[in-house]
Amino acid sequence: MSECPPPASLVRMTYPSSAAPPRRFRPLRWLFRLFVLFLLFVVGVIAAVVWAWSSTAVDTVGEVNFARRLHVPPLAESRVDRDGRRVFELTAQSGRTELLPGTTSDTWGFNGTYLGPTLRAERGERVAVEITNEIEETTTVHWHGMHLPAEMDGGPHQPVAPGDTWTPTWEIDQPAATLWYHPHPHGRTEHHVFRGLAGMFILDDPDSPAADRLPHEYGVDDIPVIVQDKSFADDGEMREGGHFLGGTGMLGEDILVNGTFGPYLDVTTERVRLRLLNASTARVYDFGFSDDRAFDIIGTDGGLLPEPVRDERILLSPGERAEIVVTMRPGEEVTLRSYPPDVGGGLLARFNGGSDQFDVLQLRAAADLAPSPPVPDTLAPAPDLDTDDAGVDRRFELSGRKINGLKMDMSRIDETVELGSTEVWEVHNRDGTHHNFHVHDVQFQVLSVDGAPPPPELAGWKDTVLTRPGTTVRLALRFTDYADADTPYMFHCHLLMHEDAGMMGQFVVVEPGARAGTVEDEALGHTTHVAGHAH
Ligand code: C2O
Ligand code: CU
Ligand code: CU
Repeated sequence: MSECPPPASLVRMTYPSSAAPPRRFRPLRWLFRLFVLFLLFVVGVIAAVVWAWSSTAVDTVGEVNFARRLHVPPLAESRVDRDGRRVFELTAQSGRTELLPGTTSDTWGFNGTYLGPTLRAERGERVAVEITNEIEETTTVHWHGMHLPAEMDGGPHQPVAPGDTWTPTWEIDQPAATLWYHPHPHGRTEHHVFRGLAGMFILDDPDSPAADRLPHEYGVDDIPVIVQDKSFADDGEMREGGHFLGGTGMLGEDILVNGTFGPYLDVTTERVRLRLLNASTARVYDFGFSDDRAFDIIGTDGGLLPEPVRDERILLSPGERAEIVVTMRPGEEVTLRSYPPDVGGGLLARFNGGSDQFDVLQLRAAADLAPSPPVPDTLAPAPDLDTDDAGVDRRFELSGRKINGLKMDMSRIDETVELGSTEVWEVHNRDGTHHNFHVHDVQFQVLSVDGAPPPPELAGWKDTVLTRPGTTVRLALRFTDYADADTPYMFHCHLLMHEDAGMMGQFVVVEPGARAGTVEDEALGHTTHVAGHAH
């Protein structure tokens, strides 16, 4: 058989043009298909939004069975060394803790498996804390609210490697206050705090005239209330993640107070002082009581208020503290709640915990209550940094995960402040969701919130302040001690996911006329010389 060429007709048939009629483009049919697809998409989006909307609000009011006695962290033991310093020991360790009744979770704690003891010291005392790291990661311990040298601050520049011990030492030189301590390793703070590394640090001032007339017996009528939200998996492990649709961070569905789930407190005195600390990673609380009774707000971050503020609510964003005194009647029960907090942001607020409410702690009054003196009318001197012609010295724009358009850089000094100066800082939240703003080293005075005088609960010394969407707060700060051109303090958003993502900056305090020095990025192990702009 010889190969013969295919007949011409076959060749031609391979050309579609001469085969079956061409498929006609039918615009209407395509439009219809597109429309159906679009419709499906829209229905899907609506379903997702409805689902997110309805599943996102958490409400535990009336649903908490207060079956466990509130754990009160022990007061840390201390010794006085040869130099007259009060020395504490804190060991960061890992372990398992029964947070949810009947199950255990992997946790971290100081001198225990979850949270840490309460440190307590007096104004004028010199203290030292021996911090040993027995967890498997480098950590730090920062003294939130404390006025102290930058190299003792426990920020990201003072890492403690596994197995190491670090012993910061300083003199307590500020009014009586409820401070706290927690890790601050750059990029890992949320994880370390969530795992359980945190504790309270109470400062006393023997010269404070109000001190003796306020409830002050630790664990009896003066109670630490460390509030944290958690999310638990079925096997009892803490779930890091929670829901964070709104972008402000992890929000849990369960509340722990001092690590206790469903806690109650036996009250034995007419008045009880609660030292409220929002030690959550992202959640904002608006504390009040189940019967809406009024209470006295006597102190905030940096110490006692000028005078007690009588109110039914106190709002705390992460890192903030408030001391309240509540009056009880014999035999009654009342529940400390968190009501839906006004975080701003309209409908978006719902995705950032703005619709959530919780039963937090039940107070059970004994049939006979020991008498307590009334709360004094005046408590402490008011902050006095307010100057008539204060112009703005520095501006901080909060947006996304950046401050002034920059993410945290361990080797960059953002601001240089001169020793002895009093400055006005203006903080503007440019986002559609809330942030807050925390400054190390000093307590500040809130001058205004969106141009208006601050509400009375913001009239005392503060170190952390909520900034609602679109608003501006003005702060006055005085830098009186501890110049160190080479060791920065931090300022940052205390929503820990934001902080870790870079919403933080660094400032140094320098001698008048001096320039910022050299900062090392310990994490990367290299040194960069940065000339921060002297102000
Ligand atoms: Cu409580 Cu810089 O932190
Ligand atoms: Cu701090
Ligand atoms: Cu933030």
